[in-house]
Amino acid sequence: MKGSLLYEGKAKRVYHTADESDQLVLSYKDDATAFNGKKKDEFAGKGRLNNLITSKVFQYLHQHNITTHFIKALNDTEQLVRRTDIIPLEVVVRNQAAGSITRRLGIEEKTSFTPPIIELFYKKDELNDPLINDVHAYHLTDITEQELTFIKQQALDINIELQKLFRSAGLTLVDFKLEFGRLKDGTIVLSDEISPDTCRLWDKETGEKMDKDVFRESTGDLIDTYTKILHRLEESVCAK
Ligand code: C5P
Repeated sequence: MKGSLLYEGKAKRVYHTADESDQLVLSYKDDATAFNGKKKDEFAGKGRLNNLITSKVFQYLHQHNITTHFIKALNDTEQLVRRTDIIPLEVVVRNQAAGSITRRLGIEEKTSFTPPIIELFYKKDELNDPLINDVHAYHLTDITEQELTFIKQQALDINIELQKLFRSAGLTLVDFKLEFGRLKDGTIVLSDEISPDTCRLWDKETGEKMDKDVFRESTGDLIDTYTKILHRLEESVCAK
């Protein structure tokens, strides 16, 4: 199934398929990084958890008419996806204040945002993924104004569906990051992953942080936390 290595990122390896088709194999790694790679560790089993969680979330999004690059999980740590050229933008949706926005703008954690705030970051490690505006995005990437409008609307639609999914799993979706890619015909689809690495998820009752912040802030056990997220999603009526 798997062919040669195309690209290695911080959390995944991307392989060609053996038949060199327009499909790729994503292999989830056990590595965890934070603060643009300044904090690093390895957690046995993390790749499996993020592969299985992302697979569940993408299947759920398909059921709700959101098109993504995801085709199917191949095994515990690998998934088959449609080949896209990733647009170098990180599209962050925030329902409540946490993380970088609290530091950057002095907004108190937990402040609610209605409507949700969408932020764009330029995906460029050497520059520490800076916050950019729409006009920067037109200069730095090949997207048009119309395509950016589509991406933002998709991000809001995905937010509504994900909030329902996570609520049914007893979790509040605080914020998350999306990446979009272009298929061969130019169509833009949701790509990359949606997992506790890329979302902030707080227990609905206790407010406990159940995402990568346990690693960023050294406040809990990453594998225990991600295992709970997977189990809660498996039990959720939304993800059947
Ligand atoms: O760090 P910040 O508060 O801007 O992150 C917002 C959301 O985007 C969080 O859910 C975080 O996990 C996610 N994120 C990500 N990859 C990055 C930066 C942020 O998944 N490179």
